[in-house]
Amino acid sequence: TLNQKRQTWEAGDAAKSLPERTQESHKGDNGKGLLIAGAYNMPGAPAIASNACLRSGIGLLTTSVPESALTAVASHVLEATYFPLAETKNGQVADLQHTPFPWASMDGVAAGSGLGRTDSTKVLTRRLLTETQIPLVLDADGLYFLPELEEEMTNRESPLILTPHPGEMGRLTGLSPKEINAERFTVSRNYAREFGCYVVLKGPNTIITTPEGRQYVSTSGSSALAKGGSGDALTGIVLAMMLQAPTVEQGVCNAVYIHGLAAEMATAEGASDYSFTASNLIDYLPKAIAFIQ
Ligand code: APR
Ligand code: MG
Repeated sequence: TLNQKRQTWEAGDAAKSLPERTQESHKGDNGKGLLIAGAYNMPGAPAIASNACLRSGIGLLTTSVPESALTAVASHVLEATYFPLAETKNGQVADLQHTPFPWASMDGVAAGSGLGRTDSTKVLTRRLLTETQIPLVLDADGLYFLPELEEEMTNRESPLILTPHPGEMGRLTGLSPKEINAERFTVSRNYAREFGCYVVLKGPNTIITTPEGRQYVSTSGSSALAKGGSGDALTGIVLAMMLQAPTVEQGVCNAVYIHGLAAEMATAEGASDYSFTASNLIDYLPKAIAFIQ
């Protein structure tokens, strides 16, 4: 039955799939990631995603943002290196058809948060789907053009991880958020199987579905997360964790679990649901990861 294929993902599962760091490890062992995000008026999304990624153990992170956002982002993210992007006069990414992205030297890439829903984002999304042979995480505006790129999704061989909230899932499937919420398991399993991707359907009790249709429900998280920035933090954690766990499946489940646990810990120690922010979540990632280790 369907129920037999659904499991919860808890602290013990996370602990089992978080590899031990050895004395001999070096930064190359812990993953090299590329994050493509942001616009002049969206410097927060790449900053939050980058810091969340760096606090989740990635070895090296390169953050790619439009030029005019770079100083703002870099002043908040000291440990990343940068690959600035040409931009339009509105401060959004310009045509990226020929941009020499450094993805050939990367282990994983994440894209979308705050990029804008422009033709350039569509070009980038197509290139990511067709040219990269490493795990690819798409979120937010990186999901927007997927209904026009279904063939590229189907033909892609490397792992593809989508992290929609119910509204974004609605756009992907043509269903209303109400229909999505009524059938969260079925909708995400059908989509994941049809396009051969991982689907992280966000919300209270986020569901992770594998391309084969296995489903996990995260047991962590709280309503403190219901505000802008929480999703960007998740993108960064997913990028870091999927490069470190033995499998993409375990990495994605761990990321969702740790994201929720950090939020719970921040609120338990005083940040109320009201004043909690994604920055608090990032500050609690060290404790959350130490707890499951
Ligand atoms: N309980 C548990 N987890 C929650 C809850 C809740 N009540 N509400 C939200 N979350 C978690 C989700 O599971 C997800 O991990 O917080 C995160 C929210 O992610 P997003 O919805 O992607 O939010 P974010 O992108 O940061 O900000 C909202 O999305 O719809 C767009 O344009 C909108 O800019 C806005 C942005
Ligand atoms: Mg979002």
